[in-house]
Order: sequence, then structure tokens, then C-alpha cells
Amino acid sequence: MVEKSFQLFPEAASSIAGHVDALYAYMVVVSAFFSLLIAFLVVFLAVKYRRKNDQIPAPTNDHGVGGIVLEIVWSVIPLGLSLVMFAWGASIFFTESRPPADSMQVYVTGKQWMWKIQHNEGAREINELHIPVNRDIRLTLTSEDVIHDFYVPAFRTKTDVVPGRYTTEWFRPTKVGAYHIFCAEYCGTKHSGMVGTVYVMNEADYENWLGRGSGEGSMAEQGQGLFNQLGCGTCHASAINKQNGRCPNLNGLFGTTVELSDGSRVKADESYIRESVLYPQAKIVAGYDGIMPTFKGLVTEDGLLKLVEYVKSLGPQDGTESSATPAPTQTSGTPAPPPPPRATRPAAAAPANPAAAGNR
Ligand code: CUA
Repeated sequence: MVEKSFQLFPEAASSIAGHVDALYAYMVVVSAFFSLLIAFLVVFLAVKYRRKNDQIPAPTNDHGVGGIVLEIVWSVIPLGLSLVMFAWGASIFFTESRPPADSMQVYVTGKQWMWKIQHNEGAREINELHIPVNRDIRLTLTSEDVIHDFYVPAFRTKTDVVPGRYTTEWFRPTKVGAYHIFCAEYCGTKHSGMVGTVYVMNEADYENWLGRGSGEGSMAEQGQGLFNQLGCGTCHASAINKQNGRCPNLNGLFGTTVELSDGSRVKADESYIRESVLYPQAKIVAGYDGIMPTFKGLVTEDGLLKLVEYVKSLGPQDGTESSATPAPTQTSGTPAPPPPPRATRPAAAAPANPAAAGNR
């Protein structure tokens, strides 16, 4: 979208945009009101109480009740007005931080100086993001090199893209159209050229676009290929070999709470899977030996996302069902320390076809 004429604000094209703009307008009005009031009083009082002759008035020490009331009033009113900013801002922040459970998942990898985007269904694009209108879209973002920041002004969302970890951004586009993507964190020479376009399409156009596909299969399918290629299945139970017990079972794992050998617990989310591939010794599952070698340097960030998506396809679809399906053997009250019998646990009620799962 090229700016047709001068615009004070970028287009408001997401469900949150109106709220952000309203808060912004409130802050502008409050700030403008007090700036003008104070400027007026400075000038007005300077004129009104200017020295009119050479007589120096006697200093006054009159701090009566009127003075105290005035001080309380001008402290409490601005405090109230700023607390409104705080509460309102916090509410928007919480909304923007919590993607709805059934969001459509898209993966974004930042790299000097481009955005690489992968859809669950397998489509890949660079510096372009095609999404359907009126759907909650959840981006999982990571970087191959330095810190970038994925910014879509029309959606009023902006998230740091940090090497070595996954961050999340979500939005619900409300208007069909094309909108700028900017990198909003200085990341080197061509930072200003690290731009792209979000294409918000109606459902039919989107299905059409998706139908062109990449011919490489869904991300989960590609992840499964990588899983086999790297030999993960020789140790881990997964969809292919359900009875492998030497390493933690991956079936039904995603989104559950895992008990570790040091007694602590961790949620099996994207970051946990990524860390377990790259730094297997960082978190060892209770009842297992830390025998897994690192795959650091053997898997790219794109590959890691595919592996994550594969593991996801084996278990509860999103982190939301986690507390509802604790593995029975992971209960700390179990008398005997359980060896790894988790292979017997039925793969949770996840759709068998990962492509269909991503295509709800
Ligand atoms: Cu990437 Cu600035």
C-alpha cells in the first residue's frame, strides 16, 4: 500500500488498532490540555503579578487551608488521569500478549536483511505474508543473527525478534488490503531495507493462494522428514515407532508439563522443544539419562521450526489443553520412581493428519 496522501495515522486494520488509537488519543488530549493550561498560567500569572513599581512587597508566609486543598487537588487529579493510562495500557498489553487458543500459526524468521515466513501448510515466502481476513493469526518469531523487530503499523503490533528464542505476536486483521511490514530494531547496514508486505485476503482468495502450495508438504511433514533424516526416531518414540523407550516419548507431549530430573517442571512449548534439540543437557526429563547429543549446527532455524511443528502435530495442538492432560506417570505422588513407561500413553486426541490440523 503506497500512501496516497498525507496521513497522520497509518490505516487501522486489526481488531486491536482501534483500542490502541483510542488510548493514544486519550494521552494526547490529556497531555495537550495540561500543556496548554500550564503555558497559559505561566504567561497569565507573569503578567498579572508583574512588579508594577520599585516597591518590593513583603514576603508572605500564608499557607492556609486553601493552599493545602489546592495541592491535594492538583496531585490527585493528574494521578487519577495517569492511572487510567496505566490500567488502559496494561489491558491492551495483556490482550496483545495472549494469542487466542485457536489462532492460525505462522512462523517468521528474521535474518539480515529479510523476513522468511513459513505457513503450517508448507507455503513459504520472503518479505511477504499472506493471511486471511478476520482470523486470529499467531506469529512465532525467531532470528538467525541479530535482534530484529517485526512491526506492522496498520495492525499496531510490534515484537522483538531475538536470536536463540521464540517470541510471539498475534493480531486479527479486519480489512482486506496490503500493509507495510517494517523492521523496527536497528540491525545493520540495510536495516531500513528490511521491509515487507502483509496481504490480507478474503477467505476464498486465501485458500486459492494456499492451494498453489510449495509442493514440499506441510511443515509438520517436512519436520517428520528432518526427524528421520537426523535419526531422532532411533531413540524417540513418535508417530512412526510408537514403542521406543530410551528417550522421552514425543507422542502427546506438546503443551503438557514435563517433570525434569532435578524435580522442577517445565511446559513443553516451542522454546522447550527448540532448546532440547540444541542443548539436550539443559533440561533432562525425569527418569532418563542425558544421552542425547546436541544438534546445534546441524539444524537451521527453519528446520527447528519444522521439527517443532512435527512434535506439535504429535500432541495436543496448542499449549492450552496442557493442564487437562497430565501424564499419569508424571504425578509426583507416584510411589515408585517410574521408568519410562510413557510410551504406553495414548497419543492424545490430536488429528492424525497434521496438514488438516493446521488448516482448520
Ligand atoms: Cu532487521 Cu532492523
